[in-house]
Amino acid sequence: MSALFSPFHLKDITLRNRIAVPPMCQYSAVDGLTNDWHLAHYTSLGRGGAGLVIVEATAVAPEGRITPACLGLWNDEQAAGLARIAAAIKAGGAVPGIQIAHAGRKASAQRPWEGDDHIPADDPRSWTPIGPSAIPFGANLPRRPEAMSRDDIGRVRKDFAAAARRAREAGFEWLELHFAHGYLAQSFFSVHANQRTDEYGGDYTGRSRFLLETLAAVRAEWPAHLPLTARFGVIEYDGRDEETLAESIDLTRAFRQGGLDLLNVSVGFSIPDTRIPWGPAFLAPIAERVRREAGLPVASSWGIDAPATANRVVADQQMDLVMVGRAHLANPHWPYHTALQLKEDKPSWVLPAPYAHWLEKYRANA
Ligand SMILES: Cc1cc2nc3c(=O)[nH]c(=O)nc-3n(C[C@H](O)[C@H](O)[C@H](O)COP(=O)(O)O)c2cc1C
Repeated sequence: MSALFSPFHLKDITLRNRIAVPPMCQYSAVDGLTNDWHLAHYTSLGRGGAGLVIVEATAVAPEGRITPACLGLWNDEQAAGLARIAAAIKAGGAVPGIQIAHAGRKASAQRPWEGDDHIPADDPRSWTPIGPSAIPFGANLPRRPEAMSRDDIGRVRKDFAAAARRAREAGFEWLELHFAHGYLAQSFFSVHANQRTDEYGGDYTGRSRFLLETLAAVRAEWPAHLPLTARFGVIEYDGRDEETLAESIDLTRAFRQGGLDLLNVSVGFSIPDTRIPWGPAFLAPIAERVRREAGLPVASSWGIDAPATANRVVADQQMDLVMVGRAHLANPHWPYHTALQLKEDKPSWVLPAPYAHWLEKYRANA
């Protein structure tokens, strides 16, 4: 059996292999609610063969949505819809996960295919984004956020904890906190976005406080026997990478002490002007360094869509899980085709019986 198809154990959860579908926004919700699109999309990913399917960034509060079409988990009706999604993923043999999120200063935007920029302030669909400081992201997201008061910080922390509780009640077995990609938590950590002079800004300790307090609030709600994970941008590619990486590794150690079980290593995306070395698996060496130096299991993604590459990053212990995103949009059965290419003994068995039974016969007769 290849490294990619070996099972992965974390807390009381076992994934059937090391392939995970990372969160990918569908921008298809109304009032934060799931609908037939989400059900069909996540059902097909759940039965496609991946060990873990993480539902897209789901906002903990209305103002925390990236766009008006993002999912939410701030009320019970939303939780009821998501319970159907969790059950559908599980019925396909994958573990159902969800990413809970607050978009911060990148909120109130148009869908990517409708411009990907801030909705004009005079449009009734828009709202005022919030952030650690009144500093806009820039480029296509120029709107100046409102700097959060301490009350705002306390409220959002409680929103994360309440969303975690609803996620558990809805049947999710894997929780990912969205601390990445220039959204609210990442912007608290970023020197570019956070220029606060109180205890939530300034040095490493101040800029880490919001993230660690949010983790603690969620840890108190999320069951101890289930994986609690976070996605975090450990590097910005902004010219101060060693400094950021060293701080990020310190923070990952603090996450571990705070009860985090795995880090999904990503890029910060805190400013528009960066020099990201896009290429196949470009983040794998960074993920490996975080894994080794922080002593925490890691997952990562970005440009890992070739079966041999996906297998290599696991076999070389650069990451424990491989997040395969867009390749799953192109082909929800990416794990099956990957198992064929890696010459697994019984490639069909990554699929549920109603597919696996016939595909096994079909291959035997081919
Ligand atoms: C349509 C789309 C939506 C995405 N939405 C999210 C999201 O909700 N949360 C997140 O952390 N990353 C999001 N991402 C990033 C993906 O999780 C993933 O990291 C990225 O696509 C790179 O992996 P890939 O090269 O395998 O596609 C999104 C990416 C795409 C293409």
